Amino acid sequence: MPDSFDFTRADFPDGFVFGAATSAYQIEGHAQGGAGPTHWDSFAATPGNVVRAENGDRACDHYTRYAQDLDLLAAANLDVYRFSASWARVLPEGRGAPNPEGLDFYDRLVDGLLARGLKPALTLYHWELPSALADLGGWRNRDIADWFADYTDTLCRRIGDRMWSAAPINEPWCVAWLSHFLGQHAPGMRDIRASARAMHHVGLAHGRSIAAMRALGMGNLGAVCNFEYAAPVDDTPEAQVAAARYDGIYNRWFLGGMFRGEYPEDVLEGLGPHMPRGWHDDMATINAPVDWLGLNYYTRKRIAAAPGPWPALAECDGPLPKTQMGWEIYPQGLHHFLRFAHEGYTRGLPLYVTENGMANPDTHNAPDSARIDYIAAHLAEVRRAIADGVPVAGYFVWSLLDNYEWALGYDKRFGLVHVDFDSLQRTPKASYHALARALARG
Ligand code: FCB
Repeated sequence: MPDSFDFTRADFPDGFVFGAATSAYQIEGHAQGGAGPTHWDSFAATPGNVVRAENGDRACDHYTRYAQDLDLLAAANLDVYRFSASWARVLPEGRGAPNPEGLDFYDRLVDGLLARGLKPALTLYHWELPSALADLGGWRNRDIADWFADYTDTLCRRIGDRMWSAAPINEPWCVAWLSHFLGQHAPGMRDIRASARAMHHVGLAHGRSIAAMRALGMGNLGAVCNFEYAAPVDDTPEAQVAAARYDGIYNRWFLGGMFRGEYPEDVLEGLGPHMPRGWHDDMATINAPVDWLGLNYYTRKRIAAAPGPWPALAECDGPLPKTQMGWEIYPQGLHHFLRFAHEGYTRGLPLYVTENGMANPDTHNAPDSARIDYIAAHLAEVRRAIADGVPVAGYFVWSLLDNYEWALGYDKRFGLVHVDFDSLQRTPKASYHALARALARG
């Protein structure tokens, strides 16, 4: 079992950056500092949605312990920190009066990063929608694009001048499909009309937020999407069609909107009748030019045809080794998507792997060799893509800390750093030390 990485910075192109990622609700401790309630709080308070009904009230208490966490990033020899701001911490009601404590917190965080020589990479929305906006229909309501542009402006007027990069929305697929069709994330809906609207409004909000940041003079703006390789469960035509549909909904819809100004026909077959009136007129806004694409990648899914209405597909168990999430480990999928995005959509823009990592049942003192293996295997695929001519410019581990893994609560440990959720003690794992050593070398 490995206890070190075999790469050095010299194996990657000049300027290639290494980072770690986190998100606000998963680490900050949302009950502190005047943040407003979010749809994740009420989703978690509803029986059956989240393991043990756990929520982000305390999480890693990063809100008060952030300086220690920034020290951990710096001591790992990382270059960039990808963090998110909580909309409800900045604007407790989603609109209207900002929470000065919230803005002060992000200001201190950014200055703390810069003081340690770390580049701040901001995400504006990583899923904690203010409850007041959820009450108005949240992502189903077209007005969310205005609300989100206003929030972007409020936050970026305060910290935008010091961002290395910024992206509006983490993983539009999760915001829209996982949350409104599959019902697994807040607001826990299972409704195709709601899904079609969310699938569209999330892109519209993205485009409006990009425009708001450009208006403030910010640069290095991107989009962060997640990707899952869709493998047909067998070689029947039915399974192939089902896998292609999964691929369309998951991997092609948002890229199509944001980089081509059009949605894939095979997905419109199902969503078309449920789309909001006049959606075609929004495509130019969704297609706003960006400076890079971030890819979050973890796994593949095996897909079969299933009875019932569109999309008539089902996920099946797979034979590959799995992480603590039950996700198959399939590093080749990352190579596939880096090429796929570059060749079909981004055509020369820098690509970043903005999330990659694994959950493992770590304790504070047992080595996490499996994570070292996982990261090494995915970095090898990044290098393979670079050798193929894909302009990959950086790689971020999910995550710096063990944290609140949404509907799965605090059991699933993704951190380079172990967190004891009773004492909140941080203990760097073997993968953390291995990464720090690899990044320190020439
Ligand atoms: C991604 C999310 C992140 C975390 C990882 C495991 O989809 O962006 O918050 O939950 O998965």
